[in-house]
Amino acid sequence: MRLDVVTIFPEYLEPLNVSLVGKARARGQLDVHVHDLRQWTYDRHNTVDDTPYGGGPGMVMKTEPWGDALDSLLADGYEAGDGGPVLVVPTPSGRPFTQELAVELSERPWLVFTPARYEGIDRRVMDEYAARMPVYEVSIGDYVLAGGEAAVLVITEAVARLLPGVLGNAASHRDDSFAPGAMANLLEGPVYTKPPEWRGRGIPDVLLSGHHGKIARWRRDEALRRTALNRPDLLERCAAADFDKKDREMLSILGWAPEPGGRFWRKVQDVEE
Ligand code: ADE
Repeated sequence: MRLDVVTIFPEYLEPLNVSLVGKARARGQLDVHVHDLRQWTYDRHNTVDDTPYGGGPGMVMKTEPWGDALDSLLADGYEAGDGGPVLVVPTPSGRPFTQELAVELSERPWLVFTPARYEGIDRRVMDEYAARMPVYEVSIGDYVLAGGEAAVLVITEAVARLLPGVLGNAASHRDDSFAPGAMANLLEGPVYTKPPEWRGRGIPDVLLSGHHGKIARWRRDEALRRTALNRPDLLERCAAADFDKKDREMLSILGWAPEPGGRFWRKVQDVEE
């Protein structure tokens, strides 16, 4: 997979040389190009921003540097369609970045990231390139960062670990929390490793039992428990049919019940007298 990042802070992308993404680069599984947007400025101050039309606080990134930068890097191998590039635009106004979107992006051969600073990029830039390639405006969460570079690191890591051969164990992402196609999207429960006792704290007996069925059941119960606690919204989205008999027993211990009609699950409220 090829990745291009255009930014005014190329050094912010240094972590792409480290760990999983760094190794994938070293092995030739990822071909990463980081470009300094100011390369495509032609005035003395290397200006990339200007005041917003209509007024208001902050500055807006100018069309020309972005247009010249994107034209220049797309000229190197652009083709339309499935084999071509997609533009990934990190912005708090984008669609939520999810595991499903990570999978979708991991199936593309070429991602071009345009992390912005200031109040964002002049809209005409995205409108221009949307005519040539898919444009994904993506938010990594409901908070505002000072720029999109951290979001590029997040998205790249989530995508890179899905590429064939990048993770040591191909099964590692099959059971990910949020893996698409899972029966129900549950958070993963707790994990343990040696030593068997640490500061007086042991390991749940079932994990030492060697009984695969019981271990799988325990893991599922812990996943239900953690999801009910930290992400009740995920349980609320599950259809009643997502759960087997044992799941239902656990959900009911956790205070959840099928809604009338049995289509989804909901937290049972204490009935006030
Ligand atoms: N840029 C600033 N905030 C962001 C966010 N939450 N997601 C993606 N890009 C951003």
